[in-house]
Amino acid sequence: MRENNLDQLSKLMKQSSYTVILTGAGMSTESGIPDFRSSQGLWTKIDPMQVARPETIEENYKLFHEFYKMRVETLNTKNPHDGHRIIADWEKRGLVKTLITQNVDGFHQLAGSQKILPLHGTIREFRCHHCQKKATESDFIHKKPCQYCGGPLRPNVVLFGESLPMSLLEQAMVEIHKSTLVIVIGTSLRVYPVSQLPEMTKGKKVFINRESVATTLFDLVIQGNAQEVLMALETRL
Ligand code: APR
Repeated sequence: MRENNLDQLSKLMKQSSYTVILTGAGMSTESGIPDFRSSQGLWTKIDPMQVARPETIEENYKLFHEFYKMRVETLNTKNPHDGHRIIADWEKRGLVKTLITQNVDGFHQLAGSQKILPLHGTIREFRCHHCQKKATESDFIHKKPCQYCGGPLRPNVVLFGESLPMSLLEQAMVEIHKSTLVIVIGTSLRVYPVSQLPEMTKGKKVFINRESVATTLFDLVIQGNAQEVLMALETRL
């Protein structure tokens, strides 16, 4: 069953003239970064509406800062895995045109992917929540106020209730409309508007995920761990 699915997907990839990959937090769990909604996910331990909203920056900066400081420091001890590197290599070989990601860990960038649309921002860059001026990771980690206006510092991630960078979202829609194959990896597809992107393609839609997700959207579903599946696919390309 699984072998057949892998053979099918490798065939689709070879036939596809414009493949787009969309990833979520499941792409980084094999690097030791927890996802959000599966059994060990962050949101099973912490209420996102408490910590991941802009209001928290004003109402309870200590809580906001503790949560994101923990995530930044966790990141500094982890690395991309072979799955990230395989996707970057596929781009170099022309097998993948664009990578759309919800992940803020920067692992796709570190692994060498170039054409990336990081729709939910990045946890590796920081700014003042008030004057928007850039800030350093060190100033954020050490809970320093903005050096220009004294405001609170935050990572450049899209918080719940904030809108995605419109230009990035528009580029993502253009890429999806051009795609002949969309491969969705490691996401519960629970967060709008990214969740709506896969169905916008006129091409084939493939889902690679550890858990099954209630959807009839996909032409092919491969249940498994991203790194393992990507390595198995690589042997077929
Ligand atoms: N390989 C494949 N799939 C995996 C793996 C893995 N190694 N590990 C976890 N998964 C799957 C889980 O089964 C789950 O279905 O990845 C999915 C991750 O879903 P979420 O935790 O909801 O993460 P994601 O879909 O990226 O969340 C979207 O929500 O909290 C916000 O901004 C945050 O970008 C995030 C957005």
